Amino acid sequence: MTIETFKIKDQRIFTIDQTRIPESLEYIELDNVQTAYQAIKTMIVRGAPAIGIAAAFGMALAAKEDRDLKAAGDTLKSSRPTAVNLAWAVERMLRVADEQMEDGRGKREEASTPLTDREDAVFHLPSSIFHLLWNEAVAIWQEDIAMNKAMGEHGSALIKDGMNILTHCNAGALATGGHGTALGIIRSAWDHGKKIHVYSDETRPRLQGGRLTVWELQEENIPVTMITDNMAGYLMQQGKIDCVIVGADRITQNGDVANKIGTYSVAVLAKHHAIPFYVAAPYSTIDSALESGAQIPIEQREKEEVLQVGDSPIARPETAVYNPAFDVTPANLVSAIVTDQGVFRFPYGFQ
Ligand code: MRU
Repeated sequence: MTIETFKIKDQRIFTIDQTRIPESLEYIELDNVQTAYQAIKTMIVRGAPAIGIAAAFGMALAAKEDRDLKAAGDTLKSSRPTAVNLAWAVERMLRVADEQMEDGRGKREEASTPLTDREDAVFHLPSSIFHLLWNEAVAIWQEDIAMNKAMGEHGSALIKDGMNILTHCNAGALATGGHGTALGIIRSAWDHGKKIHVYSDETRPRLQGGRLTVWELQEENIPVTMITDNMAGYLMQQGKIDCVIVGADRITQNGDVANKIGTYSVAVLAKHHAIPFYVAAPYSTIDSALESGAQIPIEQREKEEVLQVGDSPIARPETAVYNPAFDVTPANLVSAIVTDQGVFRFPYGFQ
């Protein structure tokens, strides 16, 4: 089954409620900017590229309601701070709106037509800022899928037949416009006939690896085994892992990588066991404004995520908790960064 993280029907945008997977596959409508903000904040939609796409549609919907776009963008950006894709998408939408206001209608109308071939999704005669922004959001979404497929091709060259691959969190179709980044490489390798097997870390505290990655791979009959996060070292010691592939929320100029909490631990383990550690991300995840990972804002989340598994408490509610949602893996632990523009290796010096 092709996983459609976003769906357009009758010029309305829907996204999978990722908090319901694997129990059920349900879509919710992003019907205004506030719904988009809430969906990102509560992780109904999550994963760096996917929250960028949801925010882009949020901006279009803000224009439909004639809201102050700068304020709407600031609200959306405040929902989750670590993934650069969110701010990047909001800024791109604001640029389109600004250009339109400065240059008058003609220029953007011309530019908006060829942005995507999703005939069913776009407005062909953009007659308002809403229509222009909507088309731009569709373009961001479609470009993301194209980048993931390009990345899949580049990355699949690193995967050999018979490999056992460890991944952490969910960097699949659900985390993106479609196909996925880390899982996109795995998908592409599988589509090329490579007989691979995936180990998926469950990824405490939100369990994206257990709930989402395992579900995605099972949907496509790609062999997957779920492990708890603290098992990865033992598997590596036993020679059960041939490479690690993860996604990224932000990559700095020097090649440091912010990704889901626990990624750094896996990278250290991989280095110790001389196992290749690959990161997959579209080029837009590279934040060339930041020199190193120390400058990346790390989201802190509520204590309940740690104090409970699902709805079941595992410690007293008053227990002190530290709950950073991401960590930073230094560039020297990364074997290669796979982007839509090719495979990059240390020292990166991204500009
Ligand atoms: O907190 P989440 O679920 O949004 O975190 C997601 C990740 O860390 C992913 O690995 C990352 O966004 C890359 S997704 C292609």
